[in-house]
Amino acid sequence: MTAALEPGRQQRRVLLIIGGGIAAYKVLELIRLLRKEDVNVLPVLTRAGAEFVTPLSVAALAGAKVHEDLFSLTDEVEMGHIALARAADLVLVAPATADLIARAAAGLANDLATTLLLATTAPVLMAPAMNVRMWQHPATQRNVRQLMADGVTFIGPEKGEMACGEEGPGRMTEPADLLHAVLERLNEAEFRFSSSEERPLTGRHVLITAGPTHEPIDPVRYIANRSSGRQGFALAEAARDLGARVTLVHGPVNLPCPAGVHCVAVETAEEMLRAVKDALPADVAIFAAAVADWKAKHTADAKLKKDAEKNSFTLELEKNPDILSHVGHLEKDRPKLVVGFAAETGDPVAAAREKLRRKRADLIVANDVSPQKGVMGGNFNEVILVSGKEEERWPRMMKNAVARRLMEKIAGILQDSDK
Ligand code: C5P
Repeated sequence: MTAALEPGRQQRRVLLIIGGGIAAYKVLELIRLLRKEDVNVLPVLTRAGAEFVTPLSVAALAGAKVHEDLFSLTDEVEMGHIALARAADLVLVAPATADLIARAAAGLANDLATTLLLATTAPVLMAPAMNVRMWQHPATQRNVRQLMADGVTFIGPEKGEMACGEEGPGRMTEPADLLHAVLERLNEAEFRFSSSEERPLTGRHVLITAGPTHEPIDPVRYIANRSSGRQGFALAEAARDLGARVTLVHGPVNLPCPAGVHCVAVETAEEMLRAVKDALPADVAIFAAAVADWKAKHTADAKLKKDAEKNSFTLELEKNPDILSHVGHLEKDRPKLVVGFAAETGDPVAAAREKLRRKRADLIVANDVSPQKGVMGGNFNEVILVSGKEEERWPRMMKNAVARRLMEKIAGILQDSDK
């Protein structure tokens, strides 16, 4: 299992902040799973969290004292709140409630949990769980964007039926997937290069496309798709961490431009193609964007009126340029490595092989985006690498772990081709 902690490493400590939501009961299972993987859990229970699970259950499963109070004299003597924040290799907030997210986004420190979130320098993961309307409220979305910009990684929420009876995004990610995310992040924290010369992509230019494109129909309507851009943004961060100069050409997304990455924001496929051409030459080009295959043949200058007499409406579409295929077929300035993605709901390998040939790519990353897999818009991905005659299946991983492993693989291929 790739996400398991590699042997021979010192035991890691996860500060687990349990917020006040019904999903708190699932965190008991998560503690058990973490302990099974030899991860030490430092549990923190908010006042609201203690309404859902008891300190005794948490302490028994964690095999550790539960911290609840910011102003506890005994705790301050044993381990002060700053020491507690520093003791962790990683902080996980689960369930992250709307209130906890809001207080963290505002930088408040009015209880032990928020104080620890301000005092820690460790990576922070949050697993939100709340009513779907609370999650979708602009205030919550604003707070989430702020925390993401501050470096917090969100896992979930997942779509589905919730305890309150409503359906939609709001369910906390299942304990097994949270375990995966934690282990991957702990392994990642180990992943450091001591100097820039050691980074395998130093001196290389990596060009990445990400997100959807919007194809206008009239001034207010457009054709789009469900791509979040997460996989492409994660690739940009991974390439940057390996030392590359990164150009990220992206469609309309809800993600901040990663620090140290050159972002070019576009709307349509035509604009994306232009931005890609402008960014060449590059050593590697990775096409992770979900480009709309079709655009309106005629874009209306004024809003199209609905005709009360008619029950149907025909919109004539024409093909968009295929950006990957364009770059794959370049004679001059073709990057050494051209990588595409194949998001399929059928047999991903057969489709990837066909795309590899037709678009003249060197490598296709195939994945199954059937709704039950939760890949589109989610944090996890399960991919198969298809190149030449080979096929490599990777287990289900977080998108940033897929990104890191893919960039390492790409760095290896480039190094081999230099020999
Ligand atoms: O043909 P399909 O859209 O499934 O191909 C997927 C791959 O091709 C992805 O890498 C995608 O970014 C790229 N692509 C592109 N321009 C298009 C359509 C797809 O670059 N117009």
